[in-house]
Amino acid sequence: PPSSRVSLTVNGTRRSLTVDNRTSLLDLLREHLGLTGSKKGCNAGACGACTVLVDGHRVNACLTLAVRLEGAEVTTIEGLAEGDQLHPLQQAFIDEDAFQCGYCTPGQIVSGVGCIQEGHTGSPEEIREWMSGNICRCGCYVKIVRAVEQTAG
Ligand code: FES
Repeated sequence: PPSSRVSLTVNGTRRSLTVDNRTSLLDLLREHLGLTGSKKGCNAGACGACTVLVDGHRVNACLTLAVRLEGAEVTTIEGLAEGDQLHPLQQAFIDEDAFQCGYCTPGQIVSGVGCIQEGHTGSPEEIREWMSGNICRCGCYVKIVRAVEQTAG
């Protein structure tokens, strides 16, 4: 199958690799770069477990073709902490107990970071609306919204 070379920055590190043109960003991260923090839930854009930031905006990595990302800056859950200092939203998830099984958590946190960065934290309703693409089967929504709200300040 046709393949292409793509160069992009992932969590601050420049990466250049050749991938099958049909490769999703999610598979590039998980299979080619070994970054398995972004989860594959539905692989169809419906659950949000694969959420990453591309040039600061949230995307479903499962729906994004890797070869379209030439020159892009990608941030995954692995790129949020600074050394051993967790991102404030990661810490808030711990403080608020905002997860049970944890499978959706990386996507929830990256999505929450996007929500905060893009300034959609005016009210719990607004946060809920912006986080509505991230499904949690354990039903931790109240605590997830609280963690985002607390981090936004
Ligand atoms: Fe991408 Fe579910 S795995 S939205």
